[in-house]
Amino acid sequence: MSYTPSKDRYSQMLYNRCGKSGIRLPAISLGLWHNFGSVDDFKNGRKIIRRAFDRGITHFDLANNYGPDPGTAEENFGKIVRKDFTGNLRDELIISSKAGYHMWPGPYGEWGSRKNLLSSLDQSLKRMQLAYVDIFYSHRPDPDTPLEETMMALDTAVRSGRALYAGISNYKAPEAKRAFEILKQLGTPCLIHQPRYSMFDRWVEDGLLDVLEQYGVGCIPFSPLAQGMLTDRYLKGIPKDSRAAKAVFLKSTDITSDRLQQIRDLNAIAQKRGQTLAQMALVWLLKDKRITSVLIGASSVEQLDNNVDCLSNLQIEDEYLKEIDNILRRTP
Ligand SMILES: NC(=O)c1ccc[n+]([C@@H]2O[C@H](COP(=O)([O-])OP(=O)(O)OC[C@H]3O[C@@H](n4cnc5c(N)ncnc54)[C@H](OP(=O)(O)O)[C@@H]3O)[C@@H](O)[C@H]2O)c1
Repeated sequence: MSYTPSKDRYSQMLYNRCGKSGIRLPAISLGLWHNFGSVDDFKNGRKIIRRAFDRGITHFDLANNYGPDPGTAEENFGKIVRKDFTGNLRDELIISSKAGYHMWPGPYGEWGSRKNLLSSLDQSLKRMQLAYVDIFYSHRPDPDTPLEETMMALDTAVRSGRALYAGISNYKAPEAKRAFEILKQLGTPCLIHQPRYSMFDRWVEDGLLDVLEQYGVGCIPFSPLAQGMLTDRYLKGIPKDSRAAKAVFLKSTDITSDRLQQIRDLNAIAQKRGQTLAQMALVWLLKDKRITSVLIGASSVEQLDNNVDCLSNLQIEDEYLKEIDNILRRTP
């Protein structure tokens, strides 16, 4: 079935400036870590991507190793772009990829060497059959490679035209600060940082967000729904088709009875606000103006729609914030 994007795709989405750059990103971006690999239903993935774009999501986040099998999310995404985003539609997309986690055997298949980053980027471009990515990330800091080498590889990626912007992910505040300094000196300022951040994981509040503001770098939290825990997905047990039942990064044992009680209590607040828990969890992140975009995952069009609908109620009153804080303080 051929695809014609919705004409009013830009009318309902909110676009936030990414740090002090010229780029605005949608308040909600879509990641392809799960649900788009060779083990997944291609048609479902294609439907989700089309719907995302129809709802104003212009930013799609990938990495060399997304699948499973590693690399197949990029292959599938490339296929979807070729089939559905024809003509000049590529110019309406912000596509990112990353290198740093294990991808191929031997000493050059992971971490932060120039060799790894640039070879991996070439592989990603080949898999997606794209001329360039919009953002290329160092996926994680490498304690054994000089930060200068990793940042110079990002600078080369941009200067060679393989990427338009540079980003870093999973860097703590002090190493992020050093990375920003080096990139600035090289003349390729860092566009964006991608940290894990959700109600259940608030480490970025302890310094990183201040550093990002100071350097004018955007922030795109990943796993904003704590991989599905901050939704109604697990309120009545662990569904067979859920991530906790199927995948390895969220385990059914992560959903302890204390965690579940916390989720129920948060869900009760969301209901009082007339929202789903997923929507409240996203709004809770977007209330901070340092957050450029929240990077969600979705296994269905319904989940995607539900998440994007959070934009119709972005206010979150102090009384609710206090109630939420009290619940979150009970570390399970
Ligand atoms: N830089 C990094 O190191 C890093 C690491 C991890 C992720 N990321 C990026 O961040 C993206 C998002 O990560 P994530 O998938 O963990 O994000 P997430 O939004 O926290 O979790 C997504 C999962 O939550 C469930 N879900 C989503 N919306 C829902 C709704 N409205 N109602 C009920 N359940 C809902 C679905 O689980 P089910 O599958 O069970 O339906 C979905 O697969 C990734 O795709 C990737 O691009 C980056």
